Amino acid sequence: MELTTGRLRLDILRDSDADALFRYRSDPSVARYQGWCPASPDEALAFIRRQQNLSLDQPDGWLQLAIRRTGEDVLIGDLGLHLPTEQDGSYEFGISIAPACQGKGYAREAAGALLDFLFGSLKAHRVHASIDPRNLASAALLRSLGMRQEAHFRESLKWHGEWADDVIFALLDREWPAKSAVAGH
Ligand SMILES: CC(C)(COP(=O)(O)OP(=O)(O)OC[C@H]1O[C@@H](n2cnc3c(N)ncnc32)[C@H](O)[C@@H]1OP(=O)(O)O)[C@@H](O)C(=O)NCCC(=O)NCCS
Repeated sequence: MELTTGRLRLDILRDSDADALFRYRSDPSVARYQGWCPASPDEALAFIRRQQNLSLDQPDGWLQLAIRRTGEDVLIGDLGLHLPTEQDGSYEFGISIAPACQGKGYAREAAGALLDFLFGSLKAHRVHASIDPRNLASAALLRSLGMRQEAHFRESLKWHGEWADDVIFALLDREWPAKSAVAGH
């Protein structure tokens, strides 16, 4: 699977991405609200290798895409896509951008392309994202994509040894074309 935008290319993770993936994923500002934080470059490499055999046909799996700037090989982020359990048309995603590359609109551009692909090519019915409400950057990103806050579960997840709230943002297929046009994706 490969997606392109004006400035970005989203494709598979490669072995050569392990160091970059380890560096930004283990940065405390990126790891704080995430379930997975590699302990070493080797653990990042093992994660990448497990990913390389996955495809869009894999029910109930997480497919992790690499985010790179057009014409560059360097990994600047990753986008995780959870595939429907039984082709029920409901997808989930999460995204991380390396700290040095944040604040440039890359997450919005990458996630916008993913939403276009899911609603356009895969005929998704619903796409959602689950975040810790203290993660203000994520909430701002999801709102900027036109996603609605639908639920707020109190202390429903254990992150890094403490109970945390879980907030769900979602978007339906019939809502996306208008958002897509407004956002210019
Ligand atoms: C959340 C994250 C992916 C955003 O990446 P980014 O490339 O900096 O985001 P963008 O530049 O595309 O910004 C998207 C929107 O969010 C807003 N935003 C981004 N960071 C913000 C912050 N720290 N505080 C407030 N708003 C912020 C931007 O202003 C923009 O809104 P706009 O389109 O209305 O102007 C990034 O902060 C990150 O990787 N965080 C750590 C990983 C993480 O927690 N991921 C979970 C995500 S589900």
